[in-house]
Parts: sequence; structure tokens; C-alpha cells
Amino acid sequence: MHHHSHTRATLGGKMSAVLVAAGSSVGLGNIWRFPYVAGDNGGGAFLVIYILCVVLLGLPLMIAEFTVGRATHRNAVGAYQALDRRWSFLGYNGVIAAFLILGFYFVVSGWTAEYMVHSLTGDLARYTTAEEYSSVYENFIRNPWRPLLYTSLFVLATHFIIELGVQKGIERSAKLLMPLLFVILIALSIHSLLMPGGGEGLRFFFRPDFSKVTPQTFLVALGQAFFSLSIGIGTMVTYASYFKPETNLRHTALNVTILDTLVAVLAGVVIFPAVFSVGIAPTSGPSLVFITLPSIFNGMPLSMVWSSVFFLLLVVAALTSTISLHEVVTAYLHEEWHMSRRAAAWTTTLATLALAAVASLSLGVLDGWTICGLTLFDSLDYLTANILLPVGGLFTCLFVGWRLDRKVLKEQITNHGELKFRIYGVFIFLLRYICPAVLLLIFLDNLGLF
Ligand code: PHE
Repeated sequence: MHHHSHTRATLGGKMSAVLVAAGSSVGLGNIWRFPYVAGDNGGGAFLVIYILCVVLLGLPLMIAEFTVGRATHRNAVGAYQALDRRWSFLGYNGVIAAFLILGFYFVVSGWTAEYMVHSLTGDLARYTTAEEYSSVYENFIRNPWRPLLYTSLFVLATHFIIELGVQKGIERSAKLLMPLLFVILIALSIHSLLMPGGGEGLRFFFRPDFSKVTPQTFLVALGQAFFSLSIGIGTMVTYASYFKPETNLRHTALNVTILDTLVAVLAGVVIFPAVFSVGIAPTSGPSLVFITLPSIFNGMPLSMVWSSVFFLLLVVAALTSTISLHEVVTAYLHEEWHMSRRAAAWTTTLATLALAAVASLSLGVLDGWTICGLTLFDSLDYLTANILLPVGGLFTCLFVGWRLDRKVLKEQITNHGELKFRIYGVFIFLLRYICPAVLLLIFLDNLGLF
């Protein structure tokens, strides 16, 4: 089909597709973003809407993106170009969104690395009250140099894994890091459940309070679901382009979705009991894990161990996700611009590092410089999660549901007739009617049309 297809890398082992895709999905979105977004939007009520978005929209869309990737064996732009040139804007939307997400994601990843190091050295255990931790955090993120140092280290770590390639870099790191992540998360959940006074936090997290639900809640839940699942942005197209012909696309999508949701819920279980046990408002926003948690860890026996382990968890989760975002851009430059993989990786690395540096400074010395009242950092987050990802999702379901040759879709989902798909009809119905309708409704509603 294309001169790249026969020289392209493929993932090796049986579990690789699930591990690699779950590595992309499970990230700061689950552990850093989900708990505070849920906290800001009514806790348990948000969880219910979130799970609906995941099942009805996220799952069919992930299968759709897998289909596009494996049918073409190309990067996000090349894949849509190979299927229908007029839809290549969908690929560009993904590459641009991946680049913009990296702009703020690398910054937060840098914070997690700094906090891990400071937990290990004991520096983070020197303070006591939440107020003190709050000023430690503010001083840190507003400092012009320290966050940049850690962000650069994080960018370089991502870069070297990408340079090692699909099998030796992406696949190997996922096989090592994902099991590690689960072990840590389960240990921390048990620890949190045994904490005195934590029951209130769990109650807050799981009890639906629908009075907090506004139209905006649906957009936020949808954006969070897409962001968390890595959907609407070409990541899953890119990763699926390396899947083997035997890979069962819908089982892979189902497993990834379950793992991703499980990690988000467990992150809530780790964080909310801790938050309530010291009586801090659960709606404290992005700083939840950087202010609230360190102050809680500090009151516990072996505090250094717990906070080091927690921030290691964040570092691991972030790294497998930055790898996938970087790969979207690298694969695009490599295949469409005919750069060597090395040159493509360096171009991506330097460009994202520059954007991340400005985003980092936008929280400190450049904070007077805002876009629609938001700092660059916040506008990158808002623009990608609430606009580019849902728009990408909308056009992906329109493309796969209406435009893509039915034969191609069926071949990919059933592996050329080898697998049965009993609810194929339901899947098509969701993709053609429900997903676009819901996505449109949520958009129009938020534009104030009802
Ligand atoms: N899913 C990742 C997370 O939850 C972030 C991400 C978004 C990664 C989009 C790739 C593509 O942290």
C-alpha cells in the first residue's frame, strides 16, 4: 500500500497491544486530573456520568481508532490520507493536539519528578501544615528554573525511549512500567483504606450528588473520558498501526478501557480518604496531589516511603503517556516528512520542550500574559481536553461510522472473519448515531443553544 508498510515495526508479545495502549491511557489524567475534576464537579455524580461517557462513547471510539490504524499501518495523518484524503484533517487535528498536550503534560510530569526526588531526599517531609505545603508548591511552580530542569529531564527520558524504537523502547518500557504501576497503586489503596477517618472521603467520592450537575458537567466528563482514554487524537491510530494481524481489537479496547477506569477509581480511593482525613476541601483543583497529599503523608509513619512511592507512581504513569504522545508526532514527521526516526524524534523533542518551557513560565514570571483569561498552561489543557479531543472524537465516529468502507471495518474487527462479534450491530449503532448525536448535543448545549 505504501513504501513504509513492509519496513514498519510490529509489537511482539501477546499482551503487548493491551500494555502499550494502557500505558498511553493510564497517566496523569487518571491520577492527577481525574480526582480533582471529580472533586470540582460533585464527586459521585460525576463518576456516574463519566462511566457512561466511557462505555457509550469511549469504547466504540477506541475500536474505531484501532481499526483506522491497523487497516493502514500508517501514522495518524498518513492513515486518514490512505483511506480518504479529504479526512486527513482528522490526522492533523491529532498531531496538533498531541503537540499541545505535551506542552502542559511535560510540565506537570516535571513536577512529579521533582516531588519524587524531594520525597526521597527527605526535603518534602520538613514542613507540617497544608499552608506550608501550599507555599512550597507555589514557590516551586513559579520558580523560573527548577521546574524547567525537571521538565527537561523528563522530556529527555521520553526522547530516549522513543529513539530506541517501537519494540525496544515503547513495548519494553510498557512491559516493565505498567505492572510496577499496578503494584504501587494497589499498595497505596490498601494503605489509604486503613487510614482513620477516611470513610467520609470514600462516601464523598462514591455518593452521587446530582444537584451539582450542570450542562458543563457533561462536557467536562466527556473531555476527561477522552483525555483519559487517549481518544480523539490519533494516539490509538498510531499505536494500532503497530499491532499484529492476530490482535483482537475489541478485546484490546475493552481491556484498556477497564484498566483505565480502574486506575482512575483507585486513584480516587487513594486520594479522597486522605484528603478528608485532614479536613481539606476536596475541590482544591490541580494542586490536590501536590499540596494536599504531601501534607497528609507527612503525618504518617514512614512518610518518606509513602510519598516517594506515590510520586514514583505518578512519574511512571506520566512517562508511558508522554511516550505515546511523542510517538504520534514522531511517527508523523518520520513517515510524512521522510525524516529519519532519529531526526523526527529530536524535532519533536525540541519543539515540545520549547512549548513546555513557555507553559511552565506562564505560571510564574509570565503569568500576566493570558489568553481569554487563562494562562498558556491552562489554555493548553482547556483547548485540548474540551475542544480538540471531542471534535476529533466527533469526526472519528462520523468517518468510521459513515465514510469508511464497511468491509474494511468488519475485516479489522473480526480479523478477516476469524472472530465473531455478536454485538456488531450495537457497535455500529453507537458509532453512527449515538456518539455523534451526544457529542453534538453537548457542544451545542455548551454554546448556550438550549
Ligand atoms: N491518557 C493520558 C492520561 O490520562 C493522556 C493522553 C491523552 C495520552 C491523549 C495520549 C493522548 O494521562
